[in-house]
Amino acid sequence: MFPPLAKIVDFHTVKKMKVLGIESSCDETAIAVVEDGHKILASQIASQADLHALYGGVVPELASRRHSELIFPMIKSCLNEANLQLNEIDLIAATHSPGLLGALLVGLNVGKALSVSCSLPFVGVHHIEAHLYSAFMSYKKNSRKNSFQENPFPALGCVISGGHTLLVAIHDIGRYEMLAHTLDDAMGEAFDKIAVMLGGSYPGGPFIEKLAKQTKAGLYRLKAPQSKQYPWHFSYSGLKTQVLYAIWGQNLKDMKEASAAALSQEQKAALAFAFQETVFKDLADKFEHHLLKYPFKTIWMGGGVCANMTLRDYLEKRIDLPFFWPGRHLCLDNAAMIAGLGFMKYKLRGPDSLNLAAFPRSLLVSWNPSH
Ligand code: KG4
Ligand code: ZN
Repeated sequence: MFPPLAKIVDFHTVKKMKVLGIESSCDETAIAVVEDGHKILASQIASQADLHALYGGVVPELASRRHSELIFPMIKSCLNEANLQLNEIDLIAATHSPGLLGALLVGLNVGKALSVSCSLPFVGVHHIEAHLYSAFMSYKKNSRKNSFQENPFPALGCVISGGHTLLVAIHDIGRYEMLAHTLDDAMGEAFDKIAVMLGGSYPGGPFIEKLAKQTKAGLYRLKAPQSKQYPWHFSYSGLKTQVLYAIWGQNLKDMKEASAAALSQEQKAALAFAFQETVFKDLADKFEHHLLKYPFKTIWMGGGVCANMTLRDYLEKRIDLPFFWPGRHLCLDNAAMIAGLGFMKYKLRGPDSLNLAAFPRSLLVSWNPSH
């Protein structure tokens, strides 16, 4: 038997709440304290990029170990930054899906342990849904300045990150309809892999964005692959091969020796430019397809690739609907979005059971169908 959840009075009437958010789904340990779903009191992120760079990708076992080492000192330091004691926290929210199983389990179990030991309610948060919610957090914060004051739903939601590329119809917070997802590499993953081919390192997004700004030349033409069976889903894996062939040129006999080192800076920049142009156009084409079918009022963006300012300019020029972007501090993995969405879930649906499991793979599902 778990102790009674002393802090729960009536979750429908609870307004002011300080939520401790925990994110450990991949290679970032992140802790945040957020008030009322949008006011960030403290947010800390420890990236493990250096640890995994040696191996050319995230090593799950190392990621879990690093989360275990960092998580308690970070909780302490985040509470200090917010000038709060643990007993002033009202709710614990932790990512429970999707991600690396061992990594998820660290944050989820720490969240549950704090819930039991401090008699606090607990909610599990879906990482992809939290990326979408991050645009809502920035919107709430800026809403007085924002010209769009009506109900923003139905909205087109788009998450483009290292692990995901998806489009959903958002009918409300907690009510989603999946429209399209990736069939192979996510958009951020394609940025990361192509950056390495062009002589950069992880994370590839900022490297490609900077490199592409050095040119405007249409030296290379790439084409976004399109699945015959699922033409409105995303597929970026084939772009790696196209970039590789562009690097090798036509001289396949020398392909083992050929590398980006043989390209001039201008050629590398032109390839980065062509890659960005291709994936951004592909995304906008798919937006337009879904905008013809649904009466969307706004577009909500989330995920690490949203940090790309060239993308923001391109989409806003091409698509004539109000866009909501996460602040740049909320694009990459963070715990503020977990605490923020945790508050909304608790307010609308109450606490989760402590039996909630970690799910490494799971699509975004609605949790508020009757609302
Ligand atoms: O959201 P995120 O932290 O990870 C997942 O949940 O998967 O996103 C990380 C991804 C990386 O692939 C990184 O290359 C990409 O976001 N990224 C960018 C930019 N900054 C980060 N992609 C394009 N342009 C950027 N400026
Ligand atoms: Zn993420």
